[in-house]
Amino acid sequence: MTSRIIGIVSGKGGVGKTVTTINLGLALHQLGENVTIVDTDTTVANLGLQMGICSFPTTLQDVLKGTDNINKAVYTHPLGLNIIPSSISLDSINADLCNLKHVLNDLDGLVLLDSPPGLSADALSVLDACDEVIIVSTPELQTMANALKVARVALNMEKLVLGIIVNRYTHEKYELNPTEIVTMCDAPILSMIPEDINVKRSLFEKTPLISYSPYSGPSIEFQKLACDLAGQQYRPPKNIHMKKFIAGIKTLMG
Ligand SMILES: Nc1ncnc2c1ncn2[C@@H]1O[C@H](COP(=O)(O)OP(=O)(O)O)[C@@H](O)[C@H]1O
Ligand SMILES: [Mg+2]
Repeated sequence: MTSRIIGIVSGKGGVGKTVTTINLGLALHQLGENVTIVDTDTTVANLGLQMGICSFPTTLQDVLKGTDNINKAVYTHPLGLNIIPSSISLDSINADLCNLKHVLNDLDGLVLLDSPPGLSADALSVLDACDEVIIVSTPELQTMANALKVARVALNMEKLVLGIIVNRYTHEKYELNPTEIVTMCDAPILSMIPEDINVKRSLFEKTPLISYSPYSGPSIEFQKLACDLAGQQYRPPKNIHMKKFIAGIKTLMG
């Protein structure tokens, strides 16, 4: 099978890996890519929950145990995106990710791995299973320092570090600015995703943001990044300024 496996990784938890994996995955699917997103954060599985599904007959843990082939754990979300969930059951938190690389061999197309944070044994198994890595971080110094550590380890493992997604950017002066981030991390910024209340609203509605609020700032950024990854030219939707303006008014009104 020919696949391209990209790890969505971070130094710290809670920075936006799962939100990124889902929305980038859906944007790539909407561009016509054959894409599968995989929840490799087996201890605190969140991918299925964020997409509104909490129970699956076959999960990544079953595949890792050797009970099932990975293709049996692929589910197609109503929006068309293929997902491989992890089980949220307490019995499943001790999954052994050592053979993740091996089981992913049976997938083809573009595969995005929603990863555990940091450099635990699980996180290292996920890094090992990737061809390429995208680091997600918020723009705080301490969070970025942890991101830098993961980037260095990925490079030492001879992974291609595509760059950093800076998430929850608010333009406040206490945040690192893009120049400081690039200088600090020795890696390019792939995308600056703004802080946006629609992310939390879309999670409440259990609908991916780019479907819930397609003209919000983060949605546009995810769509641009998907085009970059797929080697396609980004074409803004017609009347984008008016659509963003209307989306902004709806956001303010709640
Ligand atoms: N761009 C954003 N704007 C506002 N809130 C965000 C944004 N990205 C993420 N969040 C919030 O951060 C939380 C953690 O995101 P998540 O993707 O689950 O992080 P991780 O997978 O890295 O642990 C989400 O539940 C959401 O409330
Ligand atoms: Mg997560």
